[in-house]
Amino acid sequence: MDLEKLRKQFVARLESVRTPGDLEEVRNDYVGRKRGILTALLKDIPKLPAEERGEAGKRVNDFKQFVETELESRKNLLEQPAKLELTDWSLPGKEYHPGAPHPLTIVRRKIEDIFREMGYAVADGPEIETDFHNFTALNFPPDHPARDTQDTFFVDRPEDGPEKRNCLLRTHTSPVQIRNMLQHKPPVRILCPGRVYRKDEMDATHSPIFHQIECLAVDEGITFADLKGTLLHFLRRLFESDVRLSFRPTFFPFTEPSADVSVSCVFCDGKGCSVCKNTGWIEILGSGMVHPAVLENVGYDSEKYTGFAFGLGIERIAILMYGIPDIRLFFQNDLRFLSQFRIVL
Ligand code: DAH
Repeated sequence: MDLEKLRKQFVARLESVRTPGDLEEVRNDYVGRKRGILTALLKDIPKLPAEERGEAGKRVNDFKQFVETELESRKNLLEQPAKLELTDWSLPGKEYHPGAPHPLTIVRRKIEDIFREMGYAVADGPEIETDFHNFTALNFPPDHPARDTQDTFFVDRPEDGPEKRNCLLRTHTSPVQIRNMLQHKPPVRILCPGRVYRKDEMDATHSPIFHQIECLAVDEGITFADLKGTLLHFLRRLFESDVRLSFRPTFFPFTEPSADVSVSCVFCDGKGCSVCKNTGWIEILGSGMVHPAVLENVGYDSEKYTGFAFGLGIERIAILMYGIPDIRLFFQNDLRFLSQFRIVL
């Protein structure tokens, strides 16, 4: 039997196959149990002279192997177009929803970046604070109204024993000043962003949870001029315009002197509009020179060191930067609101 001729015939037959039925025909003609040419050839091998059997058997078996592999790959080829036909290219594609930073995160990062450039480190502290860090060390007198349960969430910790009311959800980020100064010797230059809590009813301008950023710089020879210069640079970078600043005396227990700082209105440039309520100014943060008593409370020599500090609300800045009408929008996780802040930093 001329196997080479048979191989050529087989290849030609295979090429003419168009349907699974055609393929089945070829399979039966070559390796079918009843009429397969190769099946018959293999059956005849024992009839050959003994010395030829081994060689012939091997050749026929190799050929059979080849035939089966070819039949199999032809079968796969026949099935492929069928699979493609199942794809309906007119269907809408899968939607891709890229994530986006929360507007409060955008503002926080922007502020952190400005201060990192000035050599500040970013520090943080716990949200469950002690009365000592939140009030006492910051020079709040024992009977100060800010400690009132009306303003503060106190946390009962049974392990504290009878004196339960000495832990609370921090009401501001200022306790991070204390924690940092207790751990480090001057000079100190830190920025402390974080969540704070107050017992406020939720409305368009109040939320029991909000975010602040605290800034503290302590060193030899720091003056109020450093505070003014730092704030002017910071707020001009933040609002990307040449805002002017106004300092108004106020009171904080932990600073002396203390100042409320306003920026010239970023919407009307100080001419007067509905955002600044026709005053031309927008109050933006509280600040001052660190009170000597605070420095002494953390073991710093208040004759040698001075410092400035300020604290601002991140929501307030974001509201101004983006014209957001209601503080509740920050906390509702509504994608219609959040997806508007898909900006690349
Ligand atoms: N902790 C103050 C508050 O929550 C804000 C503040 C004012 C922080 C003056 C400061 C500061 O560091 O110097 O209202």
